[in-house]
Amino acid sequence: MKNIILIGFMGTGKTSTGRLLASRLGYSFIDTDHKIEVDHKITIKAMFAKYGEAYFRKKEAETIQKVAKYRNVVISTGGGTVLNPANLQILQESGIVISLTAEIDVILDRTGRKSSRPLLALEDATQRREMIVNLLDSRKDLYQQANLSIDTSNLSPLQVVEQILLFLR
Ligand code: S3P
Repeated sequence: MKNIILIGFMGTGKTSTGRLLASRLGYSFIDTDHKIEVDHKITIKAMFAKYGEAYFRKKEAETIQKVAKYRNVVISTGGGTVLNPANLQILQESGIVISLTAEIDVILDRTGRKSSRPLLALEDATQRREMIVNLLDSRKDLYQQANLSIDTSNLSPLQVVEQILLFLR
């Protein structure tokens, strides 16, 4: 079977769903952000701070090119991966692309607990919400370029996995 690729905004559950899905399929799991951190021995947060977003996007694109060549993997991508049309095309050629979505307040809640995301590192919740609204607005068409889209707002990762497995049957 083809690779399974999860795209979607921060806080939509790509990593937790991806890990679970991989174990159900007997696939390996790859989280591209994690791979970037391991390969470059630096956290995403520190990479943004030290070298800037453009540098991170370059490393992200290089990582997509590498992992798209793997076989029998579930790939969880960073929320901004789709900004680069070449990334999206490479991923579509590598497997089935599944988009995870969530309502804005769910994203706000899920991402609020972690401060590891440089784009959402704003103390004020109102400002963070505004940032999420703007980023989502600029990316929503890109997230729609998927074979399947699942709103994870009211679902556990296990329930999301069940939906994906039904789709794949
Ligand atoms: C980003 C999402 C993050 C990470 C980086 C940038 C984005 O990944 O790649 O902080 O631009 O949406 P997650 O979606 O896994 O949080």
